[in-house]
Amino acid sequence: MSNFLTKDKRTHYCGDLNISDDGKEVILMGWAQRRRDHGGVIFIDLRDRAGIVQVVFNPDAGENVHGEAHKIRNEFVLAVKGKVHKRPQGMDNPALKTGEIEVIVSELEIMNESKTPPFSFDEEGISENVRLKYRYLDLRRPAIQQNLFLRSRLASATRHYFEENGFIEVETPFLTKSTPEGARDYLVPSRISKGMFYALPQSPQIFKQLLMVSGFDRYFQIVKCFRDEDLRADRQPEFTQIDVEMSFITEEDIMLMMEGLMANIFKVCLGKELILPFPRLAYHDAIKRYGKDNPDVRFGMEIVDVTGIVKNSGFKLFAEVAASGGVIKAIKAEQAASLSRKDLDALKDFIAIYGAKGLAWARRGATDWTSPIFKFLQPAEVESISKAMAAREGDIIFFVADTAKVVNDSLGNLRLHLAKKLNLIDPEKLAFTWITEFPLMEYSESEKRFVSTHHPFTSPFLEDLPLLTADPGKVRARAYDLVLNGSEIGGGSIRIHRKDVQAQVFNVLGLSEEEAKLKFGFLLDALEYGTPPHGGLAFGLDRLTMIMTKSESIRDVIAFPKTQKAACLLSDAPSKVSIEQLMELSLKIV
Ligand code: AMO
Ligand code: AMP
Repeated sequence: MSNFLTKDKRTHYCGDLNISDDGKEVILMGWAQRRRDHGGVIFIDLRDRAGIVQVVFNPDAGENVHGEAHKIRNEFVLAVKGKVHKRPQGMDNPALKTGEIEVIVSELEIMNESKTPPFSFDEEGISENVRLKYRYLDLRRPAIQQNLFLRSRLASATRHYFEENGFIEVETPFLTKSTPEGARDYLVPSRISKGMFYALPQSPQIFKQLLMVSGFDRYFQIVKCFRDEDLRADRQPEFTQIDVEMSFITEEDIMLMMEGLMANIFKVCLGKELILPFPRLAYHDAIKRYGKDNPDVRFGMEIVDVTGIVKNSGFKLFAEVAASGGVIKAIKAEQAASLSRKDLDALKDFIAIYGAKGLAWARRGATDWTSPIFKFLQPAEVESISKAMAAREGDIIFFVADTAKVVNDSLGNLRLHLAKKLNLIDPEKLAFTWITEFPLMEYSESEKRFVSTHHPFTSPFLEDLPLLTADPGKVRARAYDLVLNGSEIGGGSIRIHRKDVQAQVFNVLGLSEEEAKLKFGFLLDALEYGTPPHGGLAFGLDRLTMIMTKSESIRDVIAFPKTQKAACLLSDAPSKVSIEQLMELSLKIV
C-alpha cells in the first residue's frame, strides 16, 4: 500500500479539475461519497472542499488498487494517484462541474475508514436536528461549505475596506457589564468576587464610544454579540456584528461610508454592482406605505388608507372602527385569479396572528365586484375605493379595520405573505433602503414610561429638543437602519456627546441619576472629558450572509449554530455542571 503523505503532495482539489487537465497525472485526497461497481470497474465519487470528481478503478490496475477499492465504503478517506481522462463519448455528466472528465487510478491509499454516516450527503430534506447533532458531517455538504466560504470572503472584504479607509480594529471585552441593547443578558458568575456577575456584551456599544473619547477616530470590529431573546429564523443567541464607530461626522458621512462598504462587499463577493446612493425612507412613511420599519420594497402592493371613504358607510363595522379612532386600510393583490375562496378564508387565519379580528375582501370582475361587504356600501363609495386602489379586472382588494397598530402589522405581513404566494418577488433583486427619523422613544404600556427605541445614547434631532419634555413621543432620533430585501441588516445612530443632553434624556426615560450612574457610570464619566461628536452603526453579519447566499435560516450560515431553544445539539450545551463547580462559585440551583 502507498503512503502518500510521506512521499507525495496533493496536486489538485477534486472539484477544480477540468478538461484542460486531460492527460495530467494528479494526486487527490478526499472522501468517498458513492461507490458503484459496473462489471468489474469500480467508480467512486471523490469529494473535497472544491467539489466532486469521478475516479475509476479498472480490474487491470492490480490487487493493490482494484482489490483495495472493493473495501471502500461511504465517507472513507482516500488518496489516489491517477491520470485525468476525457470521459468516453456520451458518458459526460453535465450536473457535475468536473463531468467531462474522470481520473483513472493507478495508486490508492485508504487513509481512514468511516462508520456509516447517519445521513448521506446528496440527500435532501434531512431532519435539521440530526444535521445539527452531527454538524461536523453536515458541514461536509457542499451547500453549507459554500455559505461558509462566502462568509469568510465577506469578512475579508470588510477588513480590507476598513483598512483602506483608515479604520482600526480594536477588540473589546466579553466579560463585562450589562450593555444597553434591551435584550436579556447572558450572565457569567465570578469565582473571585462571590455573588458578582459579568454580563456578556449584547454589543460593544459603550466600549466603541469610549474608543471615540480616546481619539481613535475610526473604529471597526467583527465581533460576537450575545442576547438572550426569543429566537427566530434570523436570530441567534450569539451572532456576529460588523461594528463601526466614527468621530467628527454626521449621519451623512456614516451612510456614505457604509454604502461604500456594501458596494465593495457585493462587488468582491458576488460580482454585483450596487446602485448608490441607497434610497431613504422616513420611519413614518415606511409604516404608512408598508406597515413595517423593515419594508421589502422589491415589489409594490402599498397600503392605502381608506378610512375617509368608508367612515360613514353602511358597513357598521367600518363606521364603528372609524368612530372609535381606528383606521381602515387596504392593499391590492393584482391579477390574483389564482386565489380561491378557500385561500381567502385562510388569509383571515394568517392575519389573526397579528391581532386582526377579520379580513374583508373584494374581487373585481369585468363589470362588477364579488365581495361579502360591498353590498353594504353605496355605489359612490365603491367607486371611490376602486379609484383610490386603481383596481382593474382580476384584482382583489383586502381591508382590515382596527387600531392603527393592528392594521399596519396585519396588512404589512399580509403584503409579504401574498407577494410570496403570488410570486411577485424577483429573487435576483437587491433592494436596499435606509430608514431614518425613527422616534427617539416610545411609550411602554407595560412599564408605564417612555423607553428608548434604540438605546439611551442615541441623539435626538437638535430642533426637536424642546419637545423632549412637552411631547417625548414626537422627538425624532438621529438613528438609521439599513434594510435589505425586508431584513434589517444594520442599524446605528449619532450619539449624544454632551452630558446635559444625556441627563435630559435619562430624565424623560425615568432613569434617576443614581440608576444611570450604576448602569452606565463609566460612559457618563467619560463624557465629561472632552468627548468628540461621534456616531456609528452595526451590521448583522449573519443576516447579510443569509441574504447573499439566499439562505432561509440563519443556521445555514453559522458553522455551529444553536437551535430555536438556544441549545447546541452537537456539544449538548447548555448542560449541568458539577456540584464542585457550583460551590466554587458560591451558587446554588433552586
Ligand atoms: P442593533 O441592536 O440594531 O444595534 O444590532 C445591529 C444589527 O445586528 C443584527 N442582530 C442580530 N442578528 C442575529 N441575531 C440576533 N439576535 C441579532 N440582533 C441583532 C441585526 C441588527 O441590525 N450597538 C448598536 C449599533 C449601533 O448603534 O452602532 C446595535 O447593536 O442585523
Ligand atoms: P361579519 O359581519 O363578522 O360576518 O363580517 C363581514 C365581513 O367583514 C367578513 O368578510 C369579515 O371577514 C370582515 N371583517 C370582520 N372584521 C373585520 C375587520 N376588523 N377588518 C376588516 N374586515 C373585517
